[in-house]
Amino acid sequence: MTRHSRQLRETPATSTLCKRYQSVRSRTETLVAPLSAEDMVVQSMPDASPAKWHIAHTTWFFETFLLAPNIPNYTPFDPTFCYLFNSYYEAVGPRHPRPQRGLMTRPGVDQVMAYRKHVDEHMSALLMSGLSDEASSLIELGLAHEEQHQELLLMDILHLFSLSSLKPAYDPTWPKDAPGRRGQFKPLSAGLTQIGHGAKTFAFDNEGPRHTTYLQSFEISDRLVTNGEWLSFIADGGYHTAALWLSEGWTLVQEQAWNAPLYWHHDENGWKRMSLRGLEAIDPAAPVTHISYYEAVAFATWADARLPTEAEWEAAARAGLLEQVDDVAWQWTQSAYSPYPGFKPSAGAVGEYNGKFMVNQMVLRGGASVTSPEHCRVTYRNFFHAEKRWMVSGLRLARDSRQPGVVNPNDSEFARDVVAGLSAPTKTLSPKYFYDAAGSDLFEAICETAEYYPTRAETGLLKSIASQIAATIPDGAALVEFGSGASEKTRLVLDAAPHIAVYVPIDISATALNKAAQSLRKQYPTLVVAPQVDDFTRVLTLPKEANGHTRVGFFPGSTIGNFTHEEAVDFLHAAHDVLGKNAHFIVGVDMVKEADTLVAAYDDAEGVTARFNKNLLTRINRELGANFNVEAFSHLAVWNAEQARMEMHLVSEVEQVVKVAGHSFHFAAGERLHTENSHKFTVESFTELAARAGWSVSEHWISEAPQMGLFSLQA
Ligand code: AVI
Repeated sequence: MTRHSRQLRETPATSTLCKRYQSVRSRTETLVAPLSAEDMVVQSMPDASPAKWHIAHTTWFFETFLLAPNIPNYTPFDPTFCYLFNSYYEAVGPRHPRPQRGLMTRPGVDQVMAYRKHVDEHMSALLMSGLSDEASSLIELGLAHEEQHQELLLMDILHLFSLSSLKPAYDPTWPKDAPGRRGQFKPLSAGLTQIGHGAKTFAFDNEGPRHTTYLQSFEISDRLVTNGEWLSFIADGGYHTAALWLSEGWTLVQEQAWNAPLYWHHDENGWKRMSLRGLEAIDPAAPVTHISYYEAVAFATWADARLPTEAEWEAAARAGLLEQVDDVAWQWTQSAYSPYPGFKPSAGAVGEYNGKFMVNQMVLRGGASVTSPEHCRVTYRNFFHAEKRWMVSGLRLARDSRQPGVVNPNDSEFARDVVAGLSAPTKTLSPKYFYDAAGSDLFEAICETAEYYPTRAETGLLKSIASQIAATIPDGAALVEFGSGASEKTRLVLDAAPHIAVYVPIDISATALNKAAQSLRKQYPTLVVAPQVDDFTRVLTLPKEANGHTRVGFFPGSTIGNFTHEEAVDFLHAAHDVLGKNAHFIVGVDMVKEADTLVAAYDDAEGVTARFNKNLLTRINRELGANFNVEAFSHLAVWNAEQARMEMHLVSEVEQVVKVAGHSFHFAAGERLHTENSHKFTVESFTELAARAGWSVSEHWISEAPQMGLFSLQA
């Protein structure tokens, strides 16, 4: 059957992609609407391209990489366009020289618009024709590519208009960057951190693989450097002090007579700057933009600080410490643009997209006021040569928090997470730190309380449906349990499914694992038990004993509810990768129910949960040398109906200052420290969450009230 004879079908995925295609393509047309045909032809410098070229080139991408390979006998709109509108893809053939794009008076704007229409019509047909995964990914890439060109288009127009004697406004109503306070330094402790993109959602190839890296303790400003701060730098002779500059930067300052950021003009009334709104007065409280890497470094040196590395930037952004993350200006980092460990360019011609530029450029993180809506991610790596200034670039300062070489007893991931959590606008601690030895005992005691129903309800449910679960498990399968502890509930599955060949319990506690493994080997002599000591949220590979077996994941206990939805999706994605193609995954989930039952379960009459909650402070005191007065905090459990979650907090009963890992934290009387979320689900909400990670629910079972659920997911 050829594609032409295939029936048109619209799945939910294609309809989302169709809508996104239309919205991105039409945004480009909206962006060029204020421009005249003459505006669209001129190239103001070799780095910039005419608007007409941008709108043709983004169209060429879809024609070359989607239409030509997927539509049999596709005839290009105009055979000369491949030469004119190829940007740099060697694999696609020769191209018009980049610095001479402004000489292309032909084809005219009308013809380029007709080209867009032609390609859009064929793309609509292709989008409706049942796309392969590969084609869908290429369309996603083409749309992200077009969004990048939308930003370039605005940057290039601003550059062009800045050279016009009339200083025209591109759009007098273009939003201004909000003015605000100066930045404050926020501390992050040393430790291992994970950076890079690891989820299944779209990202450019240069954002991965996600990997672990070590950070020294450091401080990072929560806001960008302002124009006012930059004016002080200028007034203090910043552009005339060689000692502040990298040698190459200093040469440029002299050669190009730099004395201010690009687009700044000084006249008898003071400093003005060119913007998309035309020429306007400098707002000292707004962030500085249009600076080169060299200027950013000189300013940071003058300010007795430095630029953050990209890992520092990402760790701080993930910890929620930063404002002005992606809505004002791209932020220079001190990281050279190079591949992450294990980086592989995408396959095919589009692999020329990012990898081949990995030399002599610096990484910028965040996003800018000209960046297309929702184009940014915390892992996004933008990159430019150090001398460039026409992009919307700004800076955020960082500094070392201690003398190099001095050993800090608080150099641990735990210390770093606690300091970051207590520095956040709403003080927060991760519930994963509840489980030291005392916390694990207290959790077991919680499970025995009359009010805490989840463990009893789930065990009861597992007993009654064990044979149905067993029927979903293929012969000779490997059962992989995430966070297995004492493997208590697993025995119910193993009893009902003697055809399971291998059991892989994964847990961070080697003691608990080995104890459980020994007893299981005795109880199930034919079962291969292959324990793996690991943080189950970070597992990348399984022991060799699991090779060659269909894998079935097992994650009871409703621990998934303790993740944020983003973390849950990331975890489910990662489990998908580890378990492989035909995997099943059995997940225990607590269901939404009436508030009284929920609140009682997290605030039992005997006060066991309160002790469990407060033990976190005892642990921080012991392990991080903190001085929390545990008695001055009270336990609070609340049902947040809007977010469908139980929340645990510790409420400061008095105003107090607490010292943790060398940092002081102020608590107002009544201020809450948020220690845990325990999300509750409906069948629909969990099905949707699983779908976001590529799993579909094949069966589910719900216990009698108080309801707990077990979901069987299929990859
Ligand atoms: C481990 N986890 C599923 C428990 C829960 O219900 O969220 C932790 C807990 N917190 C308070 N009580 C129990």
